Amino acid sequence: MEIRQAVIEDAPAACDVLRRSIVELCVADHHNDPAILDRWLANKQPEIIASWIAKPGNTVLVAVGDAAILGVGSVTDAGEITLNYVSPDARFRGVSRAVIDGLEQQAMKQGNTRCHLLSTETARGFYHRAGYTEDGSPVGKFGSTGSYPMSKLLGRTS
Ligand SMILES: CC(C)(COP(=O)(O)OP(=O)(O)OC[C@H]1O[C@@H](n2cnc3c(N)ncnc32)[C@H](O)[C@@H]1OP(=O)(O)O)[C@@H](O)C(=O)NCCC(=O)NCCS
Repeated sequence: MEIRQAVIEDAPAACDVLRRSIVELCVADHHNDPAILDRWLANKQPEIIASWIAKPGNTVLVAVGDAAILGVGSVTDAGEITLNYVSPDARFRGVSRAVIDGLEQQAMKQGNTRCHLLSTETARGFYHRAGYTEDGSPVGKFGSTGSYPMSKLLGRTS
């Protein structure tokens, strides 16, 4: 598996991974509620993903294996992790960990000492395992049960 910077041509396949990951894996967050899913998926469109790939101050990484995109993540130059999604076909194979490692390295390159993110209910245990700690009370996002502010001091092994 390779972790590399996304290019514009990756947008349709990356979009498919994001949408499937949300619909199939994040049931604990959206409870198959169509209203929540509609809001969550509204900006998961190929042309919008392409704009995130091209956006200055933002880095989108993809995990690629067997010529397919298996995971997608993004981080801002300020160290905020804004995406981290794995294909349902590649769950629990180390994809998200590899993507997160890449995003943290990018954040460190930009001079950050800490990464911040809003975790889903689904990914909360994964982030704890990766060394993140809770940073306050859950906040509402897309109308789901809650998103959990978390952060990690960079440069420490987890
Ligand atoms: C939970 C999820 C993020 C984990 O990603 P993954 O690629 O399947 O996980 P990995 O294989 O990289 O797991 C890395 C480590 O975390 C552990 N882990 C994974 N999911 C876990 C969970 N829910 N609870 C506790 N530990 C978990 C793994 O056992 C592994 O442990 P190890 O270091 O001992 O080997 C993913 O399966 C998922 O459901 N994603 C849905 C999208 C989502 O919610 N994204 C987050 C947006 S903020």
